Amino acid sequence: MNNTQLLFEAAKTASLNSYSPYSKFKVGCAILSSSGKIYSGCNVENISYPVGTCAEQSAISAMINAHDYQISEILIYADSPNLITPCGACRQRINEFASADTVVHLANIQGTQKTIHFFDIFPLSFKEL
Ligand code: THU
Repeated sequence: MNNTQLLFEAAKTASLNSYSPYSKFKVGCAILSSSGKIYSGCNVENISYPVGTCAEQSAISAMINAHDYQISEILIYADSPNLITPCGACRQRINEFASADTVVHLANIQGTQKTIHFFDIFPLSFKEL
């Protein structure tokens, strides 16, 4: 299996752990770090809706917990025929650990459909100029 296939399988597996009784929308995320390791996470909802967390947030926490800090590739899997892209808040979270080479894979139940450079979906991020 190549990296994208490994990320797809990890994100799909993570989506099975999703706690999403309110939206019923299962999301999984898998990160390939620059050290070659894979971290995954799922969305965790809350009865107080804004308190819920995204799959990306969970995967980033797993990476940080392992003292890994550089995202090479990140795959977002939606258990849906539709593709999703990371929400605005998660783009900011990814940005913290991204480089110019970081790519985002978008996947649905049919497989990985699109690969884009992270900075194409998050240009001109906050920094002191
Ligand atoms: N969600 C994610 O986990 N990642 C995204 O990139 C977009 C949305 C979750 C949040 C919520 O639990 C559900 O999908 C529906 O919005």
